[in-house]
Amino acid sequence: MSEAYPSAKVAAFLRRDHRLLIGGEWVAPADGGTIAVWNPATGEQIAGVAAAGTIEVDLAVRAARAAFERGTWPGMSGATRARLIWRLSELLLEHADELAELETFDNGKPLHDTRAVDLPVASELLRYFAGWATKLNGISTAIGDPGEYQAFTLREPIGVVAQIIPWNFPLIMAVMKLAPALAAGCTVVLKPAEETPLTALRLGELIAGAGFPAGVVNILTGIGEVTGAALSAHPDVDKIAFTGSTEVGRKIVQASAGNLKRVTLELGGKSPMVVLPDADIDAVIAGATTGIFFNSGQSCMAGSRLIVHEAVHDWVVAGIAARARAIRVGSGFDRTTQIGPLVSEVQLARVSRYLDEGKAAGATLHAGGHRHGTHGYFVEPTVFGRADPSMSIIREEIFGPVLGVMAYATHDLEAIAALANDTSYGLAASVWTRNITTAHRLVRLIRSGQVWVNGHHVGGADLPVGGYKQSGWGRENGRDGIEAYTEVKSVAIALNPPGDWLAIKG
Ligand code: NAI
Ligand code: MG
Repeated sequence: MSEAYPSAKVAAFLRRDHRLLIGGEWVAPADGGTIAVWNPATGEQIAGVAAAGTIEVDLAVRAARAAFERGTWPGMSGATRARLIWRLSELLLEHADELAELETFDNGKPLHDTRAVDLPVASELLRYFAGWATKLNGISTAIGDPGEYQAFTLREPIGVVAQIIPWNFPLIMAVMKLAPALAAGCTVVLKPAEETPLTALRLGELIAGAGFPAGVVNILTGIGEVTGAALSAHPDVDKIAFTGSTEVGRKIVQASAGNLKRVTLELGGKSPMVVLPDADIDAVIAGATTGIFFNSGQSCMAGSRLIVHEAVHDWVVAGIAARARAIRVGSGFDRTTQIGPLVSEVQLARVSRYLDEGKAAGATLHAGGHRHGTHGYFVEPTVFGRADPSMSIIREEIFGPVLGVMAYATHDLEAIAALANDTSYGLAASVWTRNITTAHRLVRLIRSGQVWVNGHHVGGADLPVGGYKQSGWGRENGRDGIEAYTEVKSVAIALNPPGDWLAIKG
């Protein structure tokens, strides 16, 4: 370690008495509940944050409702909303070092990743959606017969939105949820994951500093089963936007039925990386290694199933396994670290169970397979070869640095696509080939929200993200992402009405 962490700024932030942001004030929970925050690289507690109960959920929803109904936010011009959202993007960059460090303490991911990926991506999402605040328009059309009408649609904000996010990209997830909601004119109650609440709390301070009116963004740290469940069931929340496990996604759908909330869900994945025998194998080895091990495999789009043709199987597996063994696993504050720990002891236990199940089921271990070290929540980058579709390591989302490899012998593209589609998920997929026709045909045959050709984990604010099948409902990012925060109102203005209906009948 060449620099001392925590820096003075972050140390002071960690020591604070963290409260809940409700109606522009930082409020302590009525029952004094707290949640311990852990450093996943050491297993030591680094902070404590408030746990919001149902009382605070109610207060936060009321604050968001007041900011919505008084027109404090939806009544502002799109241009004014855009300026505030853009200002927040600037504040993120002004405080990038501090936020990146905080994210590394909280989540464990390497500091060079939080600096080079999380902060710039979060800031860019805000700038992108700031632009949409002035461009959300409906359509204009002429209808008639009988009569003649000028008709158009209005896109209006849905209202009060609760946003429940996970711990794998805490700041990016917070911003990816907030930016489109705010641009559309919605007001928000945001609930970060209990594992990683810190950057969202700092973001709350920056939001106040940027000049957003009180109550437009409320932030409740809290336990999923309490705070998240209360938000999902709350009768005055108009929409829930959720990213997390498929299991909790189902609970949210059930809880939201009471007032028929709008729901968007970005859930789990078991994304295939499909390698054709004509692919550029060096590119496959490099791309698939990143595809699975980026963020320690804690990505909903992680390429966790490698489906590779027999003709190149041994070459590809040997290459990925060699790279996996060479990956430097360690503290995110160590400059040489390439991947950090898993986020929590719970995730370490979960991933360790899959390692055991893979071995017990008879998959061949080409790399890793064990916990790394004895402190913190580290796992060795792992490659299981000769896996089969019935194994849990192939069927279930592991959310750790664990790749399952399956070989195929056919050249029939429909059969190859069937292997890729043999999952209850449909979030992302990558196809590796030099043949443009093969690429296009597989793109059409694969049932998932994203398909990449000769790459994995490719994205941008303008490209929608979301799932087919049990990977979710709806899309985030791009036009589809912001439209998911709007209702459509159809308006028709009579130009030449057809006359009295009863008289026509008579
Ligand atoms: P989770 O789905 O329980 O947590 C995600 C968020 O949901 C957190 O903010 C949590 O507080 C909240 N939550 C939990 N229970 C809730 C409830 N009953 N009502 C409302 N909100 C609730 O995910 P968890 O337990 O942290 O991870 C378990 C697995 O989920 C992972 O191993 C991974 O497979 C998957 N996962 C997928 C993610 C994705 O990006 N799609 C992100 C995180 C986890
Ligand atoms: Mg959970």
